[in-house]
Amino acid sequence: MFDTHAHLNAAQFEEDQKEVIQRALDEGVHHIVVVGFDRETIKGAMKLAEEYDFIYACVGWHPVDAIDMTDEDLAWIEELAAHPKVVALGEMGLDYHWDKSPADVQKEVFRRQIRLAKKVKLPIVIHNREATQDVVDILNEEEAHEVGGIMHCYSGSIEVARQCMKMNFYISFGGPVTFKNAKKVKEVAKDIPMDRLLIETDCPYLSPHPLRGKRNEPSYVKYVAESLSEIKDLPLEDIIKKTSDNAFRIFNISR
Ligand code: NI
Repeated sequence: MFDTHAHLNAAQFEEDQKEVIQRALDEGVHHIVVVGFDRETIKGAMKLAEEYDFIYACVGWHPVDAIDMTDEDLAWIEELAAHPKVVALGEMGLDYHWDKSPADVQKEVFRRQIRLAKKVKLPIVIHNREATQDVVDILNEEEAHEVGGIMHCYSGSIEVARQCMKMNFYISFGGPVTFKNAKKVKEVAKDIPMDRLLIETDCPYLSPHPLRGKRNEPSYVKYVAESLSEIKDLPLEDIIKKTSDNAFRIFNISR
């Protein structure tokens, strides 16, 4: 299994990071992309990517903290983009749930990162919370289809998913697709073509059923794969193979 979005660099893993990574390997997780979204977590993601063969890094600036991003930070991200283990930029996007960063600042920081991704030719990982229309408009206006990327932990409609897929985006599902009451997310997942589907944990957040509420970790990505197998009525091996193939393709990782 390929966990396309993990925050093993989070403080929640400080005590037992090694054991968590070993458990992932034991459960058949063969690749993990660790996402850094501010100064500290970017450093953590790079450290893990340099330490472990099968861990890659995605670096960018989170919309909630957009107001903190300096020109130096963006130049640093550009430098890191040349590192062979950096496979994407993000997570970037818009988050209107929290008001730490005003919407206009978030939009500008989002646009600057898309332009950078096009310059360095890396796909982008999108965080969207309560900002769907603006996210889609900006992806369109900035011609993000040139690099494509991933709609991370997708919870939107099938219509929006189709617009994103048209712009070369993959649709990634995490813990919420396993929740018993997540009827809408399950329906959307059912309709996503197999060649655009990804799995992720977003750990330590969003633990899947039956571990909801606990700290999440990459080995739990199997619950997401199992859920998709049920939803799509396809063998688990097919889900694992296809989502891994898709992840290798979007991140441009050779096996
Ligand atoms: Ni995340």
